[in-house]
Amino acid sequence: MSKSVDLLIKNGRIVSPGGISQADIGIANGKIVTLGDLGGVSAANVIDAKNLYVLPGVIDSQVHFREPGLEHKEDIEHGTRSAIKGGVTSIFEMPNTSPLTLDEDTLSQKLEIARRTAWCDFAFFMGGNSENAHQLAELERLPGCAGVKIFMGSSTGTLLAKDDEVIAMVLANGTRRVSVHAEDEDRLLSRQGIAVSAETVEAHPDWRDVESAVRATKRLIQLARDANRRVHVLHISSKDEMDILANHKDLITVEVTLNHLSLAAPDCYEALGAFSQMNPPVRDISHQNGLWDAIRNGIVDVIGSDHAPHTKEEKERPYPSSPSGMPGVQTSLPLLLDHVNRGRLTLERVVDLTAAGPQRIFGIMGKGRIAVGYDADLVLVDLNADRVITNDWIESKCGWTPFNDTKVRGWPITTILRGKIAMQDDEILGEPLGAAVRFFETT
Ligand code: DOR
Repeated sequence: MSKSVDLLIKNGRIVSPGGISQADIGIANGKIVTLGDLGGVSAANVIDAKNLYVLPGVIDSQVHFREPGLEHKEDIEHGTRSAIKGGVTSIFEMPNTSPLTLDEDTLSQKLEIARRTAWCDFAFFMGGNSENAHQLAELERLPGCAGVKIFMGSSTGTLLAKDDEVIAMVLANGTRRVSVHAEDEDRLLSRQGIAVSAETVEAHPDWRDVESAVRATKRLIQLARDANRRVHVLHISSKDEMDILANHKDLITVEVTLNHLSLAAPDCYEALGAFSQMNPPVRDISHQNGLWDAIRNGIVDVIGSDHAPHTKEEKERPYPSSPSGMPGVQTSLPLLLDHVNRGRLTLERVVDLTAAGPQRIFGIMGKGRIAVGYDADLVLVDLNADRVITNDWIESKCGWTPFNDTKVRGWPITTILRGKIAMQDDEILGEPLGAAVRFFETT
């Protein structure tokens, strides 16, 4: 008797970190059940992926969806709609909401909202600070938790672990990889006058300079060594940090964002003003080139969006009252595909950075690979599609993108979440079916 599946994806070119191969994909009960030449397999639903590449759905391990407390900027529903439209099938959300995510109750509240309203799969970071450091070994193991996140320098919100003693306490409690925003708070405070007396946002990378990032990253490396604890440094913005991190790849993993890879000072500040303001800042082209070198030579493990929306009105405030952060969850994959077409990286490396990388460093169960037995989280992309990113395509509640009017070649055509078509030709389909991501270390 011939085999029958729920969904059959025919004629696509399947991309994995190791190479590209032509194969059909059979999906049943949300999982990939068969791969290969599936001529004899019958299916309730068939997608012809001729001329398309099939990638594992993007796992974006750094987004800020602002719920609860800051829903005027974003919420889990709009953030996850934005994700699905951009080919992202799982997100890890950050704890600088209001209230901060610092205990079981605040995590449960987010999980409860996400189970009702999320369009993609999700996990939430537990914030770490002096108040909860001693409970983190238990808190980081709660279902739906992506691990612990700390801010060494102040950014949006009040979450902070600035001193070595507090960071050491966080690192001493627990075993999972700790994600870190590494800017040195004392140096930021001592240089705040630069921002206050500045006329424009162009001063932002001067206030939060390379040395502020380097100091924090160096301190963090030493503290991670002392504790022998795995650490993930988020949104690295400078070539200088990459040179340092190159010597610590046994313990430390590295994220970059498309903002730092695609924008450069001073042009972005001239063109976009505070709409390109983020922490750590977008720096000049020599740093952008250094980040691309680190993509090519393997120092970078993961690309995250650092989707951090604020309203247009907030961004229009005079610097430095303009808040830091830009939306990005929806634009990461189109921008990456465009970078592939420009010869900046291969499609295989895109999959390594957006699916296999997050799977490996966070210990995600059953996702991040196109393989039998894995969740059927997929994105079908057309590498030849010429499109323009526009504000009206953006699902995020903030309604804008720093990449408005940017022409790209390469576009997500279909997003599939655990076997269900969730986006087709820029249209979001079905209902919010998101579920919590599972991790090896919390079972
Ligand atoms: O620019 C940023 N904005 N950097 C961060 O680390 C936080 C984020 C936000 O939450 O707005």
